[in-house]
Amino acid sequence: MSKTQDIQRIVALRQEIEKHNIAYYEQDAPTIPDDQYDKLVRELADLETKYPETQVENSPTQKVGGRADRRFQQVTHIRQLLSLSNAFSLEELADFLRRTQQPVDGKTMDYIFEHKIDGLTVALTYENGVLQLGATRGDGFVGENVTDNIKTIKGLPLTLKDNLPKLVVRGEAYMSKAHFAVLNAQRDERGETVFANPRNAAAGSLRQLDAAITAERELEVLIYDIVYIEGKTFLTHEEELSYLREQGFPINPLFKRVATIAEIDDFISYWQEQRHSLPFEIDGLVLKVNQLAARDQLGNTAKAPRGAIAYKFPAEEVETKLLDIEISLGRTGVLTPTAILDPVPVAGSIISRASLHNADLIRERDLRIGDAVMIRKAGDVIPEVVRALTEKRTGAEKIFAMPALCPECSMPIVQPEGEVAHRCVNNDCPSRHREKLIYFVSSGGMDIDGLGPQVVMQLLNSGLAVSPADLYTLKREDLLALERMGEKSVDNLLQAIAASKSNPGYRLLTALGIPLVGEKAAKLLAGYFPNIDSVLTATVEQLTAIPEIGEKMAASIHQWYEKEENRILINKLKELGVNTTLGGETLAGDDLRFQGMTFVVTGTMETMTREEIKSLIAYYGGKATDSVSKKTNYVVVGENAGSKREKALDLHIPVLTEQEFLAMIEK
Ligand code: IVH
Repeated sequence: MSKTQDIQRIVALRQEIEKHNIAYYEQDAPTIPDDQYDKLVRELADLETKYPETQVENSPTQKVGGRADRRFQQVTHIRQLLSLSNAFSLEELADFLRRTQQPVDGKTMDYIFEHKIDGLTVALTYENGVLQLGATRGDGFVGENVTDNIKTIKGLPLTLKDNLPKLVVRGEAYMSKAHFAVLNAQRDERGETVFANPRNAAAGSLRQLDAAITAERELEVLIYDIVYIEGKTFLTHEEELSYLREQGFPINPLFKRVATIAEIDDFISYWQEQRHSLPFEIDGLVLKVNQLAARDQLGNTAKAPRGAIAYKFPAEEVETKLLDIEISLGRTGVLTPTAILDPVPVAGSIISRASLHNADLIRERDLRIGDAVMIRKAGDVIPEVVRALTEKRTGAEKIFAMPALCPECSMPIVQPEGEVAHRCVNNDCPSRHREKLIYFVSSGGMDIDGLGPQVVMQLLNSGLAVSPADLYTLKREDLLALERMGEKSVDNLLQAIAASKSNPGYRLLTALGIPLVGEKAAKLLAGYFPNIDSVLTATVEQLTAIPEIGEKMAASIHQWYEKEENRILINKLKELGVNTTLGGETLAGDDLRFQGMTFVVTGTMETMTREEIKSLIAYYGGKATDSVSKKTNYVVVGENAGSKREKALDLHIPVLTEQEFLAMIEK
């Protein structure tokens, strides 16, 4: 095989593997059996080793986790991972003390009181100090191998200080309340279903087939137990915890050694009150016999150790009244219903509103205006209406219906097939302009200080700014004419607007509000494309070649750019001097022999697919478009090429066969 052929093969393999990845991860519809997939990855890896210059970060061979395990592999735990029995009152804990209290070597025992973190159990196996296996609990005997996903957890040591022959530890993987709030807000904005609580979010994230998604979810872990150890012994649980800490494991330092029921009572009262100040959600506390010899002696029931018990906090749900359901419109026209509640204190703050997300949720929970409802904070942060107290109904409650007409522009509201959201599809709905502009200037977008929603409304109402580009032509005297705008604030505002012109390009890319393209995606794209234009005109293949960018996002980018108003917006922003450079590199290699050239590929090729030829063109820095024009440099034709070939001949554009094209890249 010549070098050119090998490079062609690399390009073709990358594309093929990515296609299988998309079919597998995004569409849940695998297209080839595992062993064949593995063979392709191996072939690619071999070729990349042969030609180190072809190694790129976004090659499927470089992705964390690749795709070795399709369904998670089952793993048998070295010891059964037991569960805990529960106590719901101090009396039950007093019983537990009586049951377990026994002298150990003539001394009295004590207990360790810990937080019961609301996540999911993971068991981690280290061999000679190196993490070998991460598994879920499963049924306690057999769990799932989620090693690649576990490895993405921040702060988890992959190697330990000591290299004991074997160490198996157990801990809780969880999502912090802060991250849970951000994740759900993002999902809500994209019209995706939200996670009910951080535990579900953590479980869903850890059991992702694509470790890149787990990595994005930012899970954390706290280790609380040694399941198995070779080459070391301990007398107490406390010693175990210190050893784990020394080895580099994240452990929860807030545990307390206790010996009496009074101390236990104090710890419970303190944390019942203070639990909301923790960065993670807890659903109770765990009381463990400290002396390991005593724990061993107590033994286990079928499911739980007799030497430990969970104390569960009473659920913190609060009753209030659903006064009304308000509709707000987002920048993509989605209607979001919000519960207006009789204000009540819940978990440390006064709650008067809660998002109901969509009409389905209102129907499923059978919520009616006027209902007595139970509310809580999901993940201790996001207020949520849990259920209606139907037994308290008087008959005066009103069933909610989504409006048939848009409350702002009176155009019909539709619920697109397969979506949970209702939308106003009128692109000119005043709500769109307003929300787009608010989003454009917000801290997640261009981050223009002094341009809050109030000022945006003033600008819109006075006709000074309708589109984001108008912001950059605002005049001092226009702004001075607005209410509550003094000289100083006008000058500050103009300065902030001017400064935003030199924001990093990913900020503008985010601020454009292309559906599905949030800050994270924008930053990612910025690493691969030199400027915003090149993102917007990239082919689906180029976009989806980037790990984590799927077909849905690619399609969304195309749809956005197809709209004339958006093309005009980009051009205006550029003319006005707003930075659109991103600084990334395209998927091209080092050899840019096709730079500045435009190709059209048409007909059925002999040895390659059209897509493969197009990606070779991109690899060598060229561009492949769909239609032949005067600007086209070459047309590559296969069999049954048809009208594009004719047009090329008419315009005197060189027509190449597949072999002639390949000869152009032969060194
Ligand atoms: S000890 C034999 N300690 O709670 C050891 N469990 O309801 C048994 N959990 O499956 C577990 N925080 O996932 C222990 N500090 C902690 C914990 C904890 C959370 C979870 C764990 C377990 C469940 C039992």
